[in-house]
Amino acid sequence: MFRSAPIPCSIGGVRRYQLTPLKILFASAEVAPFAKVGGLADVVGSLPQALHALGHEVAVALPLYGTIDRAKWGIGAGAAIAAPFGGATLNVTVRDVVRDGVRYLFMDEPTLLGRPKVYGEVDDVRRFALFCSAVREYAGRASPPDVVHAHDWHTGLVPELLKQRDADRLPQTATVFTIHNLAYQGLTRERVLKLVGLPEDRLLIEKKRFGKQVDPMARGIAFADVVSTVSERYAQEILTPEFGEGLEPLLEERRNDLYGIVNGIDTKVFDPRTDRYIAANYSADDPTGKAQCKAALQQEFKLPAGAKTPVFGVVGRLVEQKGVDLLAAVVPQLLQAGMQVVMLGTGDPKYEEQLTDLALNFDKTFGLKIGFDVALAQRIYAGADFFLMPSRFEPCGLGQLISLRYGTIPVVHAVGGLAVTVRDADARPANGNGFSFDTYTAAAFRNACDRAVVAFKDADRLARLRAIGMREDHSWDASAKEYVTLYETALANRGKQEGVA
Ligand code: GLC
Repeated sequence: MFRSAPIPCSIGGVRRYQLTPLKILFASAEVAPFAKVGGLADVVGSLPQALHALGHEVAVALPLYGTIDRAKWGIGAGAAIAAPFGGATLNVTVRDVVRDGVRYLFMDEPTLLGRPKVYGEVDDVRRFALFCSAVREYAGRASPPDVVHAHDWHTGLVPELLKQRDADRLPQTATVFTIHNLAYQGLTRERVLKLVGLPEDRLLIEKKRFGKQVDPMARGIAFADVVSTVSERYAQEILTPEFGEGLEPLLEERRNDLYGIVNGIDTKVFDPRTDRYIAANYSADDPTGKAQCKAALQQEFKLPAGAKTPVFGVVGRLVEQKGVDLLAAVVPQLLQAGMQVVMLGTGDPKYEEQLTDLALNFDKTFGLKIGFDVALAQRIYAGADFFLMPSRFEPCGLGQLISLRYGTIPVVHAVGGLAVTVRDADARPANGNGFSFDTYTAAAFRNACDRAVVAFKDADRLARLRAIGMREDHSWDASAKEYVTLYETALANRGKQEGVA
């Protein structure tokens, strides 16, 4: 964690953490496996199980989008709550399903929450404002949670709603607000505060930066008892104008309550020993199956078979943040130099088109699939030799963690979570697990790829590098314990934070 670490105590010879079971309510727009757009879904889909395993009681609230298959997930009857909205109340039915010890609360309301898309409707701000109001209403029922943990701008009004003045306040509940990506703030001209029954007092930062607009991300940061983000490095970076997306003065004010906890991955889902989507299973002790996965991947993308040709994999959203401009510049160079590249993603139509053109020109060496395909993603993680992630900025990043687990060596821009989790093998020969570059230029990225190819040609070094990554522990165990400490800090802070001016 960015600040204090949990203090372990010893019980019966086993190292355990002091445990006061907490009642924790998560609120998120995305939760895997029910509704997923990006990494937010994976985090909220797996951290609660890890907290449950530590003995805590966790519920996770999400909107019941039209695309969530009720029959498949066993979503049945529920209880109605009346969520204040637009000067009246809207009926929201909370349908709960327990899975792996975690209670999922599907918030069902047909007009706003029941839309098929997670994001991209013209009235997203209203939809998520209703979601916030429903979460507040649910939290205020018979036995309120100890901690409400809200994620990203979609739930940015939750901390403030829980702190509503006087009779409406929930004094026993602490709030944690986690920033997964500061680039999306939910900025709006809509009078959302009025919609959910909050006073229309504007934050100083809103007045200064946005004229009449409201910034739900800023309000989450301003009102939560503690604020966190998904790596120590990003917690430091967002205090600077380069990464702060205009909110750095507000974050600076909350600096003492700002923490960074690196994400884990679900090591049951991402496990080359048991993964059912890949051509052959393998492990750090017996990595032979990886060669079969590579051959199968080359075949799947109709690329020439060849163990000696390096395959670079890319899985992710094709947007600015992920460094698509660097990919668009460097991938053709790699292809010209005889490498193979496989890529899976969707995103900005401009980049989708540019990459599709490239795939037409290099149809023998560049495999591209525009789309979202969980099974194919896992086959790329397993079958590629290297995993490219030249992100412009990266709060944490999950792709590099998954690729490490599959023995696929990451090549990354050293920012945010990438800088924390990937160590350059040339700079740190003893324990490097990947290749990284510091300055965000095509030349620096190309250089890191070239250094990766040098390692590829040395079979012993390649095997050692792969084994280092595969043996690392990126499960949620350690980070979940840090979240428990964070919740305790939030409980101690509770009530002190009335919102920054
Ligand atoms: C966002 C960030 C990514 C992070 C994920 C989960 O998608 O861009 O870096 O890993 O959230 O926290």
